[in-house]
Amino acid sequence: MYRTNTCGELKLDDAGKSVTLCGWVQKSRDLGGMTFVDLRDRYGITQLLFNMDTNRELCESARKLGREFVIQAEGIVRERSSKNLRIPTGEIEIEVTSLNILNRSEIPPFTIEEDTDGGEELRMKYRYLDLRRTSVRNNILLRHRVAGETRKYLDSAGFVDVETPVLIKSTPEGARDFVVPSRMHPGTFYALPQSPQTLKQLLMVSGFDRYYQIVKCFRDEDLRADRQLEFTQIDCEMSFVERDDVLDTFEGLAKHLFLKIKGVEFSEPFIRMPYSEAMENYGNDKPDLRFGMKIKELTQIVKGRGFGVFDSAEYVGAICAAGCGDYSRKQTDELTEFVKRPQIGAKGLVYVKYGTDGTLKSSADKFYSPEDLKLWAGRMEAEPGDLILILAGERKITLSALSELRLELGNRLNLRPADRFVPLWVVDFPLLEWDEESSRFFAMHHPFTSPKPEDIALMETDPGRVRANAYDLVINGVEIGGGSIRIHDAGIQKLMFRVLGFTPEQAEEQFGFLLNAFRYGAPPHGGIAFGFDRWVAMFAGQDSIRDCIAFPKNNSGRDVMLDTPAAISGDQLDELNIAIKNRK
Ligand code: AMO
Repeated sequence: MYRTNTCGELKLDDAGKSVTLCGWVQKSRDLGGMTFVDLRDRYGITQLLFNMDTNRELCESARKLGREFVIQAEGIVRERSSKNLRIPTGEIEIEVTSLNILNRSEIPPFTIEEDTDGGEELRMKYRYLDLRRTSVRNNILLRHRVAGETRKYLDSAGFVDVETPVLIKSTPEGARDFVVPSRMHPGTFYALPQSPQTLKQLLMVSGFDRYYQIVKCFRDEDLRADRQLEFTQIDCEMSFVERDDVLDTFEGLAKHLFLKIKGVEFSEPFIRMPYSEAMENYGNDKPDLRFGMKIKELTQIVKGRGFGVFDSAEYVGAICAAGCGDYSRKQTDELTEFVKRPQIGAKGLVYVKYGTDGTLKSSADKFYSPEDLKLWAGRMEAEPGDLILILAGERKITLSALSELRLELGNRLNLRPADRFVPLWVVDFPLLEWDEESSRFFAMHHPFTSPKPEDIALMETDPGRVRANAYDLVINGVEIGGGSIRIHDAGIQKLMFRVLGFTPEQAEEQFGFLLNAFRYGAPPHGGIAFGFDRWVAMFAGQDSIRDCIAFPKNNSGRDVMLDTPAAISGDQLDELNIAIKNRK
């Protein structure tokens, strides 16, 4: 037996016991007559004491221990004279009677402590060492708990875990596919699933009624803090359901996870906000509702005073930052610079400062009278002491810039605390999105999403106005999950493909398997998929999902530890019948 206890469990009650512990040397301190070693394992840290007076030889061996050596120490649990109440084992130490070095370690490339000296690149290269750090390990343990609680909830609600294949056929879901060449069928490729969307629908045709899977998905898209090339979904589908059945079931899952993982109880139903309202009031289909500061439209009331910027704008909108009326020139300049960044896209910023004495001062004073400003302040429901920030331009860009400005102010004013959660369902998305470049409609969710029954008639006459029976779960400005009621009628599915610009032959070629299945009794069905990594990151209070994945890719899609993607040998390429163009 290697050990009697772990490094995280011995307490004052255990004083006097003989124990054996194993773990890694976190650090050692030599205080003349005594050497202290912090021994670490997954469960915690326990202090080992080596006493020169009682065992000189042992103490000398302890002095030679390097960081990250793997050791086994036998000894007696003693009450510590100077206690460390910040750690659970901080009231005791082990007076060591025997020491066994199980393995040595080279000097690690960075110190394995909370404030490590390793930069991101180095930590990722040695991720197995990074994972020894408490905060990183805790994220992975949290991930395990979230998965466990998810399974518990879904199992108890009658969902069946069914695995679906990873080598499938390309199905368009908005991103590029990763493809895998077939050796047995030269010149042909499998695609890795962007999600098991069509397969879970086929399981409904098979009669499984309720399906779930915690499953890897693969999307070759540009990476951001909340995106990885391979990520995990909690993927679910249900038969004989309408939208509200799905929302109620998965609101239940969300509430279960909040309660079990964060101890947060939601007694009220989640808000259900139509997409159009989210866009109008927050400029965004994933509004952060931890704070108000709604966008208000001013287009009509600001026109006609000779101010070209507003007069020529398709849309003028504003937000009101409470208590910021005393912002300095430097601060308003910073906000102007912020909205002018290329990724935000506004041309400039007009502000109105509402003094605590009731005076109104604007950066466009030349064109507007105090009465005009009073009218704007009334529309914005501004109070003395507030700051009104106005943007103007093309409607879509301006709303999106106002959304970014609102979030920036939310950050500056500490209105977005990581430990407060405001979930909502965004519903009634448009079914289709017009793409200027290719002059065609794309499915906003995916091509299997059902239109709202009352809008089906518009599919052929005014497709842009058709609303989808689709929904997203949004928490604190993050899209945690999304899904829809599906089309289960082969006729409507064919119509959808037609509106999306597929010829019947192309639809048959790509989706024949699904259209065929729909000929044999497809039940009404719908579902949702949650971004599992995003859930965990939110529960962990992390901005980046990378921190909650054991072996993530970096921002350019590389695994620097495995050193991949990498070239493969000429023999492998030959076997796959592949020639590389322009090999570097
Ligand atoms: P969707 O594409 O919205 O829907 O994905 C569902 C959820 O998965 C998460 N997500 C990601 N997380 C990390 N990295 C990525 N690259 C990434 N892409 C998406 C998001 C998102 O809400 N088949 C449909 C679901 C359905 O209709 O049932 C689908 O995949 O949190």
